Amino acid sequence: METYKEILAKNNQEHLLTYIENANEEQRKKLINQIENIDFEKLNKLYKISTEQKLISENKIEHINYTDKYKLSKNEYERLANIGKSIIENNQYAVVTMAGGQGTRLGHKGPKGTFLLNVCPKPMYLFEILATNLIKENEKYNVVLNWYIMTSTENDKQTEEFFKEHNYFNYPKENIKFFKQGNLPLIREDGKLIVDENYNIKYAADGNGCIYKAMREDGILQDMKSKGIKWIFIGSVDNALLNMVDPVLLGLTVNDGNKIGSKSIVKNSPHEKVGVFCKKNNVPTVIEYSELPEDMAEKTDDKGELLFGESHIMCNLYSIDALELISTKTLPYHSAHKKASYLMENGEIFEAKEPNAYKYEAFIFDGFNYFDEISILRGKREVDFAPIKNATGNDSPETAIKLYNNFHNCN
Ligand code: UD1
Repeated sequence: METYKEILAKNNQEHLLTYIENANEEQRKKLINQIENIDFEKLNKLYKISTEQKLISENKIEHINYTDKYKLSKNEYERLANIGKSIIENNQYAVVTMAGGQGTRLGHKGPKGTFLLNVCPKPMYLFEILATNLIKENEKYNVVLNWYIMTSTENDKQTEEFFKEHNYFNYPKENIKFFKQGNLPLIREDGKLIVDENYNIKYAADGNGCIYKAMREDGILQDMKSKGIKWIFIGSVDNALLNMVDPVLLGLTVNDGNKIGSKSIVKNSPHEKVGVFCKKNNVPTVIEYSELPEDMAEKTDDKGELLFGESHIMCNLYSIDALELISTKTLPYHSAHKKASYLMENGEIFEAKEPNAYKYEAFIFDGFNYFDEISILRGKREVDFAPIKNATGNDSPETAIKLYNNFHNCN
């Protein structure tokens, strides 16, 4: 086995030797152990991603078809809803919430689901909004849906504590299961690993696309199968209007004979920060806002509508077989340029004011690429989407509260 000194030399990380020298005995042991457990081959490949250009233009990109929920005839709507209803009523439907993100843009300390949104008639935590909605759905269908919540190393303890403290927001505790996604080291622009004030290598969550692998590795898929669950909804923690149980989306996907489905809404402007659906090289794909070239974002069809205007609002549906399949695949990683403060070799803290490091994330929608088709149900912004991303301005608590209160007729 290689010594940590050899590992560091081979991977151009010898700056870490200074930290090892300066750390106390306990910190030193931990740091060496972390170094010995890093998959440097994977990390070096990831670092290469950050320096390569993304050439979307080399792919065949086409518009994707969708079904507009509000343009279905009454008969068709009911037929699809009934297909969905019978699956839900038979307890073959489960819900997953992705709550591994940190809500840095929102400026909230702690898991994003613990953010208190000042809605009418009483303020509610984001987790509480989800629990309350699910309780209503349970009453509607006379079932208790199994609810799975994905956390990350950064927030798992706090999240579980929060649920306990709040008595699981009255959701039946035995139907909630937490599981944890993985993480990856951050890399500075010069390719060096970063150390935090406690002499630990600095890690961050590996992106919501790692949910599939986490569900397999943490036994969630197995648990679902043992409970006879056939269809699974995966949604975000930060949409105050998230509809987790839409029988029409479920009915449409089953009726189309597809294994995956998703709800969309029309993008409100070419540069709204949402991923957009398309077909890339003949398979369903979402191009993330951070990777969508400007000319593509602005392209319109002959009716003047955005050609890539179906927004991905993190309202995704899968058959259990689809999840099984994706969980065996290695999704690509995307690199994001982030601010990361760290301990300098001289023992002082470097406070990042500008992005200075790369974070690597798998994206949930890259799992769609393994299928030929997806059923997309176009919903409505005022019914389906009140995101809480930023502290102020667009997609902030203020805009989400307005949308939530309007939807619930409470002002
Ligand atoms: C995400 C979508 C984007 C979509 C938008 C709608 C991705 C990659 N992007 O963007 O296409 O239009 O939401 O609101 O999904 N999360 C984890 N673990 C992680 C990272 C995120 O669980 O490692 C969870 C968050 O807790 C949250 C959700 O994923 O529930 C969205 O994460 P975020 O990183 O905020 O995505 P956006 O950039 O807003």
